Amino acid sequence: MPNKSKLDSPSGLSDSQHAADPLHRAEMIEAMIAKYSSGLEYALPKVEHNGERHVAAETILLTGSTGNLGSEILASLLSKDRVRRVYALNRRSSSFTIMERHKVRFEDRALDVSLLSSPKLVFLEGENDLPDLGLSGSITKELQQELTMVLHMAWTLNFNMPLSSFESQVKGTRSLIDLARSCERRADLRFLFAASVTVAHAWDRSNGPYPEKLVMDAKYAIGNGYGESKYVVERILAKSGLDATSLRIGQICGGEPNGAWSTSEWFPVMVNVSLSLGVLFEAETVFDCRWIPMDAVSSTIIDVGFTSDDMPFAVNIEHPYRAPSVILMQGLRNSLIRELRLPSNSLPLISVPEWNKILQRSAEEHIFPHIDFLAKFIRENWLKADNEVELPVDFALSNGMRLSKTMRKLKPVDTDLVDKWVKYWVASGFLRSSMLCKGQPGRARL
Ligand SMILES: NC(=O)c1ccc[n+]([C@@H]2O[C@H](COP(=O)([O-])OP(=O)(O)OC[C@H]3O[C@@H](n4cnc5c(N)ncnc54)[C@H](OP(=O)(O)O)[C@@H]3O)[C@@H](O)[C@H]2O)c1
Repeated sequence: MPNKSKLDSPSGLSDSQHAADPLHRAEMIEAMIAKYSSGLEYALPKVEHNGERHVAAETILLTGSTGNLGSEILASLLSKDRVRRVYALNRRSSSFTIMERHKVRFEDRALDVSLLSSPKLVFLEGENDLPDLGLSGSITKELQQELTMVLHMAWTLNFNMPLSSFESQVKGTRSLIDLARSCERRADLRFLFAASVTVAHAWDRSNGPYPEKLVMDAKYAIGNGYGESKYVVERILAKSGLDATSLRIGQICGGEPNGAWSTSEWFPVMVNVSLSLGVLFEAETVFDCRWIPMDAVSSTIIDVGFTSDDMPFAVNIEHPYRAPSVILMQGLRNSLIRELRLPSNSLPLISVPEWNKILQRSAEEHIFPHIDFLAKFIRENWLKADNEVELPVDFALSNGMRLSKTMRKLKPVDTDLVDKWVKYWVASGFLRSSMLCKGQPGRARL
C-alpha cells in the first residue's frame, strides 16, 4: 500500500505543479486507487444471477438526496410500489434540519413535497471521514440486514478542485462499499455510482467512442480532480466484488416539470455573464447538445438499477439524439429577449473563441464575478492551445439504450425546454434585464 506522502504528493510536487505533469497525475490517481482498494484483494466470490435477482421489494440506500439529481431520484423511488424503503444518507448541516433541506430542494424543483412524509423514507446523516460513516451500530446492522441496492449520488460538483481534495469522498465511498460487501443480501445487492463523462477527459479520440467498460489506463482520466476522483472510484468498484455499475453521466440540463437548472453550474453562469458582456456565444461543436434533462437522468438510473437483465459494469448516459446547437442557442436568445423584455437586436451570437476574447478582456479589467472559473472551464474543456474549438469525446451508448426505456424514448432537447430554463432562471432572480450590457461588448455597466 502506498504511504500517505506518496498519495499526497508523488515526488514532492504540489497539486499546481502536477497540473502540468501528466505522468505524476497518473501516479497520484494510481496511488489513491491502491490506498482505497486495500483489503479488496480478498474478493468476494463472484455472484451469478442467471438473469434473475430474487428481490420482490427494494430497500435502497441513496446518498446525495439533498442535491438536484438525488432529490429527483428520491421522489421517483418514493412513488414506486416496488420500493419498500429508502434510506436517504446525507452529510450533516449545522444550519438546517435534514427535512428542511429536502423541502427546499423539492420546492425548487417543483417535486411533490408530500412524498417527504412517506413512511418509506428514513433520513440518515453521516460523515465520510468517520468509521462506518458515523452511523450507529444499530443502523448499520439494520442496513446490513435490509439493503438490496445502493445508489451513490453524493459528490462535490466542482471542476476546480485538485484530486487530493476529493480524498475524503473516496474514503466515504470505500466505507459504502464495505457496508455493501457485508450485507446479508449481497447476492442480490446492486451498487450504482454516479460517475461522469469527465473520466474520459483525455480520451484519445482516434480510439473511437469511449467504451462502456472499465478503461484501465489512468492517463485518459487526467484533466481535473473531479473526473480523476470519479475514475478512482470506478477502479475501486471494479475490485469490490460487488454487482456494481458506474454511470458515466454527461452534462445534465434542466428538465421537467419546471426546467430547474442549478445557477451554480457553468452553463447558467455563462448565460448570466453573456448578458453582462452583451453577446451570446454560438454553440458550434462545443456542445452539440448531447445534454440530458435531469428527470431523464433520474429515470434512466432507476431503469438501470431495476433492470431484470444483468447490470453491465459501465453505462454511459448522454442524450442519444443530438439537438442542433444553432437552433438551441437561437432559441435561448429569443427566450432571453422575450422573458427579460430586451431590445430585439440584443445579444448577437458570436463564435466561442471571439466570446472568450471578450471575456478575457473583461477579466483584465476585473469587472465580472465568476471570470476565473469560466476562463478555466473554457480553456480546459472547449479550446485547444491554438484557440480552436476542441471536439467533444464520443461515448458508446448501447448499454443505456438496451437497459433504459427512458433513454430510448427521449426526445431531443428543444426550444420549449430552453424556454423553461430561462423562465426558471428569471423567476429565481438569477437573470435580470438590468444586467444587459448596453455599450461595447464587455465594456459597459458594472
Ligand atoms: N449535474 C451534472 O451535470 C452532472 C453530470 C455528471 C455527473 N453528475 C454527478 O451526479 C451526482 C449528483 O449531481 P448533482 O447535479 O445533483 O449535484 P448537486 O446538486 O451539487 O448535489 C450534490 C449532492 O452531493 C452532496 N455532497 C456534495 N459534496 C459532498 C461531500 N463532500 N460529502 C457528502 N456529500 C456531498 C450534496 O450535499 P449537500 O446538500 O450537503 O451539499 C448533495 O446532496 C454527483 O455525483 C455528480 O458528480 C452530475
